[in-house]
Amino acid sequence: MTMVLFNYGHYVGLALFAAALAVELALFARRVDGRTARRLALADLVYGLAAALIVATGLLKVFAGDKPAAYYGHNPLFHVKLTLLLAVFLMSIFPTMQFIRHRRAADSDVVEYPPVVGRLLRIEVAVTALIPLLAVLMARGFGMAH
Ligand code: HEM
Repeated sequence: MTMVLFNYGHYVGLALFAAALAVELALFARRVDGRTARRLALADLVYGLAAALIVATGLLKVFAGDKPAAYYGHNPLFHVKLTLLLAVFLMSIFPTMQFIRHRRAADSDVVEYPPVVGRLLRIEVAVTALIPLLAVLMARGFGMAH
């Protein structure tokens, strides 16, 4: 039963993560009003919390799941999955700093973001889309030495 909860948390985290990233992409422009800047900061907060949920439930699945932790430790696909997640995390730092900076913007403010923020968000989406592929392969034993 606990495994059901871990899996549920992992999937809810994934759905929230993807939804928050999609909201950020939809709202983002190089120049936005203060209201949009506040919404971007809120979406980014949800994005961060969803990432924390994914990582927490992922680790629970590794260390308290059905398969022994070594199953994952020895699987190169698992390492690729974690590396991609790390890449997404690193790419999100700069946008997050920008969104936090303007989290209290007033309605009448005009907020300008560096253009690289939009590019980073798009690359994050592309890299994130690859991660479930590695996850489903790994879950079915691909990448294991036979
Ligand atoms: C620290 C981060 C993460 C850890 C430790 C982790 C760990 C795991 C583990 C142990 C499983 C179970 C695999 C099995 O059934 O043998 C799993 C499944 C899964 N993970 Fe993660 N994960 C992490 C992040 C992510 C991310 C960022 C995504 C997607 C963006 C993701 C997507 C999935 C999916 C879709 C499954 C289900 C695979 C299936 O059963 O077919 N995980 N994860």
